[in-house]
Amino acid sequence: MTRSLIAHAKAGTIDQAPAVARIPVSAYTDPALFELEKKRIFRRLPLMLAPSSELPEPGSYKAMTVVGVPVLLTRQKDGSVAAFLNMCTHRGNPVAQGEGKASRFVCGYHGWTFKNDGTLLGVASSDDFGAIDKAAHCLKRFPVLERAGLVWAILDPASTLSIEDYLCGYDDMLANFGFDGWHVFAKRTISGPNWKTAYDGYLDFYHLPVLHASTFGSDFFNRANFFAWGPHQRLTNPTGTYTKLGTDQSIDLAAMDEKDWPIDALMAGVWTIFPHISIASFYGGNARAVLISQLFPGDSVGESVTNQYYLMEREPTDAATIEGAHQQFDFLKTVVEGEDYATGKRQHEALMSGLTDHVLFGRNEGGGQAFHGWAERLVAASDDELKRIFAAERVAEAAE
Ligand code: FES
Ligand SMILES: [Fe+2]
Repeated sequence: MTRSLIAHAKAGTIDQAPAVARIPVSAYTDPALFELEKKRIFRRLPLMLAPSSELPEPGSYKAMTVVGVPVLLTRQKDGSVAAFLNMCTHRGNPVAQGEGKASRFVCGYHGWTFKNDGTLLGVASSDDFGAIDKAAHCLKRFPVLERAGLVWAILDPASTLSIEDYLCGYDDMLANFGFDGWHVFAKRTISGPNWKTAYDGYLDFYHLPVLHASTFGSDFFNRANFFAWGPHQRLTNPTGTYTKLGTDQSIDLAAMDEKDWPIDALMAGVWTIFPHISIASFYGGNARAVLISQLFPGDSVGESVTNQYYLMEREPTDAATIEGAHQQFDFLKTVVEGEDYATGKRQHEALMSGLTDHVLFGRNEGGGQAFHGWAERLVAASDDELKRIFAAERVAEAAE
């Protein structure tokens, strides 16, 4: 990838998609399609629910609601992560809230107790309650996979889709960040427009010097090359230089021995994970960090919810680095909420007028073209087709 980016920079070119694409406005505005996307994309495909470092040790847990499903993630005694339906098997109350450390959960309604591996340990006043088969009343488990310092789960206990296949080898690339050892510095949740309108922005460098003129600057680059692993895409500005951390020094990569190329130069740009994650590098306080944006459809077709995680390569210890990291994270709230999502909400309102039937993605917007193609294809696919699609993608990636 880096060799190709350097060559494109030298030639002043980008990889263009074959044609300008038209996407129907209904892809953003149709409430029936929106419900189908929640069901067939978000309730059927693996979702990246947490960076591993959010669950740093055995006993760590996090509860969250994902497209209406209460989820509980726990790090078990053997170090592995488990994902459960966060719903007491007595009468449905979520057994855990928020996040923290616990080896067992006591349901706050009548006091049933569950171990963090999901086992039902105790029924309150069990003699009064009457006999039940405890083994048949454990917390429901979701398929889960931890790779590259990230945790994926499928919100369907009966799913037989392979999460490994789904990742199409992309996890091997993401592993080069080494997120296992990174530190969750800060988190927040912001609300945005239709989830695809919001996600388009993460796959788009075209808008950077215009929409973000007052934040990133009007001389910021607007070109990207896209690299795909199945539906997962990295986008990077074709450049042959690299700015060394903590300096203004621009280094010519072509003049370097390839084996000396720094890892953050090789991992530059934005890494998206279909259907809802973006990972972008930042250096607030002169410390290497990423913003992980985790996007979910909201209650209606025009709403979404984004969890932002600011992950730092190392936990900062001095006041200047901490302050710099906070400033960076606050800046990213201004950019995303104040510029990207504010624009997305205005866009959505205009599209909802119903007075136009399509929008355009240029030859320089191949990432958005691919994203909409995948969304449409996966919504339409049967469960069996889904398995075939990702098994084939994985084989194709391995062959490459
Ligand atoms: S709902 Fe959990 S103990 Fe009753
Ligand atoms: Fe943006």
